[in-house]
Amino acid sequence: MKIAITNIKELIQIEDMPKKYVSGNEMNNLPTLKNAFLIIENDCILDFGSMHNFTPSISFDKIIDVTDRLILPTWCDSHTHIVYAGNREQEFVDRINGLTYEEIATNGGGILNSATLLQNTLEEDLYKQSAARLEEVIKLGTGAIEIKSGYGLTKDAEIKMLKVIKKLKENYPIAIKATFLGAHALPAAFKNKKSDYLIDVIENILPIVAKEKLADFIDVFCETGYFSVEDTVKLLEAGKVYGLRPKIHVNQFNAIGGVQTGVKYKALSVDHLEEMRTEDIEVLKNTETMPVALPSCSYFLSIPYTPARKMIDAGLPLALASDYNPGSTPSGNMNFVVSTACIKMKMTPEEAINAATLNGAYAMGLEKTHGSICRGKKANFIITKKIPSYSFIPYSFGNNQIEAVYLNGVKQDF
Ligand code: NIG
Ligand code: FE
Repeated sequence: MKIAITNIKELIQIEDMPKKYVSGNEMNNLPTLKNAFLIIENDCILDFGSMHNFTPSISFDKIIDVTDRLILPTWCDSHTHIVYAGNREQEFVDRINGLTYEEIATNGGGILNSATLLQNTLEEDLYKQSAARLEEVIKLGTGAIEIKSGYGLTKDAEIKMLKVIKKLKENYPIAIKATFLGAHALPAAFKNKKSDYLIDVIENILPIVAKEKLADFIDVFCETGYFSVEDTVKLLEAGKVYGLRPKIHVNQFNAIGGVQTGVKYKALSVDHLEEMRTEDIEVLKNTETMPVALPSCSYFLSIPYTPARKMIDAGLPLALASDYNPGSTPSGNMNFVVSTACIKMKMTPEEAINAATLNGAYAMGLEKTHGSICRGKKANFIITKKIPSYSFIPYSFGNNQIEAVYLNGVKQDF
């Protein structure tokens, strides 16, 4: 199947030579081509160029004219928890009425609330709820996604979550990476026995996860009141034995040295970073660890935003992800993430689009196949509605500017 898409008003994020990621000043450069064509063959991008050089040919099975519309690569959402059971809107109301996120968690709500719900949900039902969320984010233009475990917190429930992720991988055309987050919170059954829980995760759960190849990465919620740097080191050492590269939650509420630990263990990414000290920025320089900001989480919890300006101006790369989860970010809308990064973090539209495509792909180890319009990469792209420019996407926050989403060369039916 060979399809030509013609009269593209602007083709965004084009690459002749694929890059791993962009950092610092480079992030403000978003390569585009006006009045362009794009040719896809089966599931891959075959070619693109200027309409002046386009020759209609009988070898095309279809020619699609997209006059006045833009095309950009689908969003790469490198941090989500979309496999969860039920919701936590009551905690949302409790927060409006004055409780803090921390107070809710201390009273047995928060992650432990989701864990109880998930433990009591059958795998089939968990799959259905999660598949509905996955379909929702595909409609919103996401074409590659990372999904974490961490709402199970028992061997059976963690495996159940990871099996649901595996099934989603098998049944949907979106690229999915799975992350084992056994150390997301201390389960009630292990209250005051954290070292016993770490032993359980490391000796009983992790070996099964690895043996059944249920995870690509390992994560830890490295935070005051959750898992310390010392705990994180134990878990990352254990993951290393099975070749699981870290992608970790650090510096959400407190800077306790999680970034340094991530860098030391060659984490693919360190995520959240709402609280960044100068030394946390410094240690990330010239490493292969991608910092990931989650602005929808800051928005929903009313906590500080990741200091993107400081970080990019210091020469660092930055990726943007949704953090879609029931407690801190009940939204997987990457268009909103990109808008919020521009509005609240003062990222330019060019920086935000780079962060949510190419850099997001890198943060999942998918930069060779996703994140840009590049010959040989997957034919994953968004066709916008008739809009004046790509800056209109973050500008018109909360509105949907997407007309069609293609994954692996196939238009997704909404
Ligand atoms: O990334 N910070 C840790 N985990 C999730 C939220 C967990 C929850 O409240 O359910 C996050 O924000
Ligand atoms: Fe998260």
